[in-house]
Amino acid sequence: MSVADLSTPLKFAYWVPNVSGGLVVSTIEQRTSWDFDYNRKLARIAEDAGFEYALSQTRYAASYGADKQHEATSFSLALLAATERLKVIAAVHPGMWHPGVLAKFIITADHISNGRAAVNIVSGWLKAEFVNFGLEWLEHDERYVRTEEFIRVLRGLWTEQGYSQSGKYYDITDFTLSPPPVDVPGRPHPEVFFGGNSTAAQATAGRVADWYFSNGKDLDGFRENIAGVQASATAAGRRPRYGLNGFVIARDSEKEARDTLREIVAKAHRPAVEGFRDAVQEAGASTKDGKGMWADSSFEDLIQYNDGFRTQLIGTPEQIAERIVEYKKIGVNLFLTCYLHFQEEVAAFGTDILPIVRELEADAARRAGVDFDPDETLTGTHPSKAGV
Ligand SMILES: Cc1cc2nc3c(=O)[nH]c(=O)nc-3n(C[C@H](O)[C@H](O)[C@H](O)COP(=O)(O)O)c2cc1C
Repeated sequence: MSVADLSTPLKFAYWVPNVSGGLVVSTIEQRTSWDFDYNRKLARIAEDAGFEYALSQTRYAASYGADKQHEATSFSLALLAATERLKVIAAVHPGMWHPGVLAKFIITADHISNGRAAVNIVSGWLKAEFVNFGLEWLEHDERYVRTEEFIRVLRGLWTEQGYSQSGKYYDITDFTLSPPPVDVPGRPHPEVFFGGNSTAAQATAGRVADWYFSNGKDLDGFRENIAGVQASATAAGRRPRYGLNGFVIARDSEKEARDTLREIVAKAHRPAVEGFRDAVQEAGASTKDGKGMWADSSFEDLIQYNDGFRTQLIGTPEQIAERIVEYKKIGVNLFLTCYLHFQEEVAAFGTDILPIVRELEADAARRAGVDFDPDETLTGTHPSKAGV
């Protein structure tokens, strides 16, 4: 069954650079900073450029080219307060939070921002962060057992009064969070994004996530990736939406864009990329079937640590817009983007690429005989309560 939704405009997000070192582990010039002043300006540029979401990163310890990091939930809240329309997705690890505390935090952020708070639930790969904090490091698939319970608690506390849930990891008894989240039409509660590629991640996302985030993939890789999520979602009577990561290199000519990629690779910080590969591929190998998130990533892929080159958003604005709409036709609802020079390139994405995407989307809808309204926002596509 095709999951493509040609009638709804694609949504765009950018990675918040709240960790140092930029989004590629390379010594190539990156006019991107991880500090708050840079990020506040970037968020305003992004919302003016037509971006609907920003995604922060959660990292507690220096690792693989990111020596310094700002904490994700506080940083996200500050960006919400600095913007008017942008939805900011705070990345959180279930193992680091109690879900009731996070549910309450996000409700407050939602009120401060008039209904723009969201979360990205990430189950973790950096073992040292947990072990050195003295926290338990669960085995790979067990992390997803906890993640599923965690998301069910969030959703329960956001939508019900006197909520109770008893499970392996959490025991919630007759709890009411007041006030509830902001009542936004078409949004039953703050949106729950979810990142992970393994079989356990896909199955869990299908059961409980509103949005599944995929690492960068080619067209076949993306198809394969969402098939697992879709199977589990269908069994649970749900309909998650799909986001795909991509590193954007838009230049006047394809050659210039390809040369930039070559320079990123030539200047890769080899020890940092190799250290990262060892850590994440160990995490992948520990899954039952060895299909972890970075299981088949090459050295070059890992220079953008979420496989962003694989999506191939590299070339002229026209080529990139065409590629983006090809992915829409196979089920992508949202692009999560990153760049060498965030402020300049996010602005340029809005002026040079987005208008072409909208034209191509309208054209694709016309050919398929479906209505397309470029101003329409997604409503009514949130998962039903079935399976929650
Ligand atoms: C879009 C996206 C964002 C992510 N952000 C973070 C993050 O901020 N911090 C983190 O530790 N892991 C992050 N992860 C990785 C997950 O925590 C997790 O390690 C990974 O999804 C494990 O995948 P696996 O189940 O395929 O082994 C992210 C993953 C994706 C796809």
